[in-house]
Amino acid sequence: MTNFKMNIDKLRLPLLGKEATIKRKKNCMTQCLRNWIPTRLFPHRISNLKILILAVLIVVLIIIPIYYYRLSQFDLKYININYSMSSFHRSTRPTPNIRCSMINGPRLPQNHDHKTEARLRSDPKVLVFVETMYSKLGKDIAELLVHTRIKYKIEVAGKSVPVLTSLDKGKYGVIVFENLNKYLQMDKWNRELLDKYCREYFVGIIGFINPSEETLVGAELKGFPIFIHTNIQLKDAALNAASQILRLTRPGETVWGPLPGDDWTIFQANHSTYEPLEWAHKIDDYGHEGLMKTPLTTIVQDHGLFDNIQRVIFGSGLKFWLHRLLFLDSLSYLSHGQLSLSLERKFLIDIDDIFVGDKGTRIKPEDVSAMLSTQRRIQNMVPGFKFNLGFSGKYYQHGNPDEDKGDDLILENIDEFRWFSHMWNHQQPHLYDNLTQLIDDMNLNKNFAKEKGIPFDSGYSVSPHHSGVYPAHELLYTAWKRVWNIRVTSTEEYPHLRPARLRRGFIHRNIMVLPRQTCGLFTHTIYIDKYPGGRDKLDESIQGGELFQTIVYNPINIFMTHMSNYGNDRLALYTFESVIKFLQCWTNIKLSSDTPLQLAESYFKLYPEETDPIWGNPCDDPKHQKIWSKNKSCDSLPKFLVIGPQKTGTTALYTFLSIHPSIASNLPSTETFEEIQFFNANNYYKGLDWYMNFFPVDVNSSRYMFEKSATYFDGDLVPKRVHALLPHTKLVTILISPAKRAYSWYQHIKAHGDTIANNYSFHQVITAGDTAPKPLRELRNRCLNPGKYSQHLERWLTYFPPQQLHIIDGEILKSNPIEVMDELQKFLKITPQFNYTGHLRYDEKKKFYCQVLNGERTKCLGKSKGRHYPPMEEKSLKLLQRYYLSHNTALVKLLKRIGMRNVPQWLQDDLTDSPT
Ligand code: A3P
Repeated sequence: MTNFKMNIDKLRLPLLGKEATIKRKKNCMTQCLRNWIPTRLFPHRISNLKILILAVLIVVLIIIPIYYYRLSQFDLKYININYSMSSFHRSTRPTPNIRCSMINGPRLPQNHDHKTEARLRSDPKVLVFVETMYSKLGKDIAELLVHTRIKYKIEVAGKSVPVLTSLDKGKYGVIVFENLNKYLQMDKWNRELLDKYCREYFVGIIGFINPSEETLVGAELKGFPIFIHTNIQLKDAALNAASQILRLTRPGETVWGPLPGDDWTIFQANHSTYEPLEWAHKIDDYGHEGLMKTPLTTIVQDHGLFDNIQRVIFGSGLKFWLHRLLFLDSLSYLSHGQLSLSLERKFLIDIDDIFVGDKGTRIKPEDVSAMLSTQRRIQNMVPGFKFNLGFSGKYYQHGNPDEDKGDDLILENIDEFRWFSHMWNHQQPHLYDNLTQLIDDMNLNKNFAKEKGIPFDSGYSVSPHHSGVYPAHELLYTAWKRVWNIRVTSTEEYPHLRPARLRRGFIHRNIMVLPRQTCGLFTHTIYIDKYPGGRDKLDESIQGGELFQTIVYNPINIFMTHMSNYGNDRLALYTFESVIKFLQCWTNIKLSSDTPLQLAESYFKLYPEETDPIWGNPCDDPKHQKIWSKNKSCDSLPKFLVIGPQKTGTTALYTFLSIHPSIASNLPSTETFEEIQFFNANNYYKGLDWYMNFFPVDVNSSRYMFEKSATYFDGDLVPKRVHALLPHTKLVTILISPAKRAYSWYQHIKAHGDTIANNYSFHQVITAGDTAPKPLRELRNRCLNPGKYSQHLERWLTYFPPQQLHIIDGEILKSNPIEVMDELQKFLKITPQFNYTGHLRYDEKKKFYCQVLNGERTKCLGKSKGRHYPPMEEKSLKLLQRYYLSHNTALVKLLKRIGMRNVPQWLQDDLTDSPT
């Protein structure tokens, strides 16, 4: 990483030389004066005084310029003054000096995407064989794939090979071995299976040679005409510009200096199937005469001429930044373009608060000029680029006189920049509980914009500290829409700040929220010599490290910076110009910029699956809690959910739970009554605040809160959503015979006047074929699907451990609800247990258990629960028992697996009565 680093010492040497000369001159001057005064003038006192004054004057006149000269030239590291208040020019201010002869060289044509017909033989997915689930390189590979959103499956090498095909297509486009040895030493059967798959489906292999304790010299790679030397220290990596693999990576330059690690493997072969992709030199490889020895191959491509399988073999892992690019290129090449990342990258730099900063750290006119000239240079490399300036009007002209002129110069150049609204007073929106107040403050900023001629129609805004965006503070969304007609914002906090590679976007109330990237510059990182970890750390991030990789992996990047990063050492200007140059040097990436609105539209076109938000629990993340209103509490969330399915007795259970003195249900919904139906339906888009309003803490603080929505059970997205918000919640489900459930459901919607149910008999509904009218088919599916219990329970169990799930036998709920409630209380760990004996009684008229009021009267469920209807026809029952046979068989297995000792009687009956 040293090749592009500015050599500070070299720059310092001439200065130290000058300084030494000045010191010598100064010493001579004082010495001469001292010698000169006493010998000639001491006897004459009056003249003496004059001479003394004259001498002092001369000394002052000489010393002041020297002093200023030294201050301005001397490396500030050696001067003990307060930097932040200094107005002297800083000689340590870094300037971008990425030297790259390739920068203006030919670029790869955009259609070079490795695409061949062979890509149609397999799916765009990678199979990764790792050594163990925890091995370092395996993790690095997985993280890289997550970052680039390439689908993958992890398998521990050494176990059996997973299923590789589905129908007549390969399931994986490339196979990766974290340790190539695991491939070479596979048992014969599995190796043949894998190789056959690779040949038939044109699938390539990437392998890494893992460092070995034993140093191998000229060892043969088992079964291949290639030899390796291990444990070598290398330097000066360069690429084979003729390699067909290179696409994202741009060859031509050399990475000068030692390469990370001392355990590299190099390859030697004399078979035409092998072609080097990367070379390097041994660390001691320059001869005494300065002659360079032959470069050593560190990554080799196997064209498949030997055994008809294409491979790329890496002599070191992904520690070296260039290998990450080459790994992505190898995936693209070996998958015949299936796994090619686009070369387009969109790029926007927000300056979150152009007027917010402490006196002494703000931008001055010369910083604004520097911004403008850097912007012009970036525009040559990134078409459409303009710094995107956020403004908080209240802090305009809050600096010293020079800094206030900086603010003015910014405004004189309004048209040079893009603009967006920040908060007027930089206040965090979650601190507002009053919409009017929030709107008023936003309007202050809008008036400021109008007064200064700042455009305010970008439809984009950023909230101070991301407050209110996620976790969503609905007042902010409302105010943004009303005052600014905001359509786009961005945050680092969704779903969490870390790890950055998992940041995603979502759309809430028609406002597109984009993930936002950090570049390592914060409000307080304003001087290079104070940069955490030192300048090397920043340069490392730029030159192949985190910042560089962020842009390589993300097609759309919005970076956050602050005003202070543009004054002082102008670290943002340095960082971005450098990283853009570095990208130009080493990649074929085509950078461009756009308005936030266009970026957001491109983003959701690329990732439509991210449109829906996933609401997490703000209390699970201290950072989220900090930007969440004090008036909100995670106690406003239920501790357990009754998830259904419909028609199994969920209302009865809900009613019995509500009798319990320590248990409270949600407030009723005006639309769906006792059910909130948040996780399964459109209510989810109303946001977390909406949901939490059903659980007022003040009333129920000491009670165990729950909600029951019977449609949760079979909702595709529900387990995932519930888990994101309530990972520790307990789940209660009730099961009855799926055939009986289907019949009860049919009677239910028929009673509610459903026209299809009233026009078709139950038997006609359940036997409706695929040519039946669409509404009938839809009704059939709604009737039958929830009864596929095993399928739905498996989905819940992928998110929740069985210990959090309690299954109630719905028949016992009918016949012995007291026993059911006792068991449920044990599961919920509610103490003291409430004795239901005196509170539930069998009602002869209703033919069900009902609630006992005042020890005497019973209050039963309404007419719609425990309906009277004719029994199901035998032919329908038999048909449904057959229909559910495989699901019921799977359910028995599932129940046994999760430790349920007694299989419900109805399940046994359904299975034994089922016609085969
Ligand atoms: P039927 O009306 O078809 O008999 P849900 O509340 O989930 O919609 O379920 C309604 C079913 O609950 C009723 O279906 C009924 O069989 C059953 N149930 C169980 N215990 C009950 C009770 N104590 N009172 C009324 N219905 C009860």
